[in-house]
Order: sequence, then C-alpha cells, then structure tokens
Amino acid sequence: MKRNLLIGLVVMFILFQFYRIDKTAPEYDTSKDLIAMTNPDAEIVRILKTACYDCHSYETKYPFYAEIAPISWWVKSHINEGREEMNYSLWGKYEVDKLAHKIDDSAEKTEKKQMPLTPYWMLHWDAKLTEGERKTLADWFRSLKS
Ligand code: HEC
Repeated sequence: MKRNLLIGLVVMFILFQFYRIDKTAPEYDTSKDLIAMTNPDAEIVRILKTACYDCHSYETKYPFYAEIAPISWWVKSHINEGREEMNYSLWGKYEVDKLAHKIDDSAEKTEKKQMPLTPYWMLHWDAKLTEGERKTLADWFRSLKS
C-alpha cells in the first residue's frame, strides 16, 4: 500500500515536469526601459538588477530551481504578477499620472521592506537590501518626480 503511494507520487512528479514554464520574453522597445531612460549611477543599476528586475522586467534571470515543477510554477506566478503590477521594462509606456503613482509606490514598497518579496531574498542573499540600500533606492525613485 505504502509502496503504491510512493510510486504514485513519483509518477505525478515526473508528469509535472512536462508542464514547462514559458521563459521567453516578448519583443519590446528596450529604449523605454527604466534604466535606459533615466541612466542612473552604477549603484542604483546594481540594486535594481539584483533586487527588482527578476520579477519586474523582461530581463528575468531564472534560477536553476525554476527548471523543476512545481517550484517553477510558483516562481513564474510571482514573475507574471510582478510584471503585471509594475514592469520596469515598459517604464516609458506608462501614462504620466500613472507614472507618478508608480514612483511613489516603488519608493514606499522599498522603504517599508515590502519589496523584494521575502521568499525572493531568502533565496537570493544579495537581494536582501540593507537600510542604506533601501534609502538610496527610495530616494532615487522620488528624485524621478522632479
Ligand atoms: C519575487 C518577485 C519580486 C521581486 C524580486 C520584487 N517584486 Fe515587487 N511585486 C511582486 C509581486 C508578485 C507584486 C504584486 C503583489 C504584491 O503587491 O505583493 C509586486 C508588486 C510591486 C509593486 C506594486 C505595483 C502597484 O501598482 O501597486 C511595486 C511598486 C513593486 N512591486 C516594486 C518592487 C521593487 C522596487 C522591487 C525591488 C526592490 C521589487 N518590487 C522586487 C514581485 C516581486
């Protein structure tokens, strides 16, 4: 009985692997990307790319465990939702009043430690931002409003 259960679980796990996530990015105008448009200093670029861009841009770097279902589905759902709410690759495409709101939101979520999501920095230690890095990034976001 126990053996059948184990075999069932193994078969299920194998079947899961056929449902691959889509890791391709659509064609997009890279000149409309946040970093391309604002040309910030290297420190800001580093923080954005290590802590935000995997979920909020089309430049996602997929970790090895994103190859393994069902973890891959969980990773991909964060990316889909993240891109839908805030896609820094499409920065120049947001309407002006929407952009002001996105800027405030980005600064606030960084400051209040709501971003990056906890499971993300637990798996990407370099994305666990220090107080100083949070302040640097939040201040920089706000400076975009002038
Ligand atoms: C692991 C993926 C992931 C990472 C990394 C991540 N986010 Fe998010 N982000 C999400 C998801 C999912 C949502 C939507 C659900 C929510 O708000 O919790 C979101 C929501 C947001 C929103 C809200 C957009 C809106 O319109 O309300 C902002 C702003 C944001 N993130 C900024 C950031 C910033 C800035 C960073 C880097 C410091 C970051 N995120 C890192 C996944 C991520």
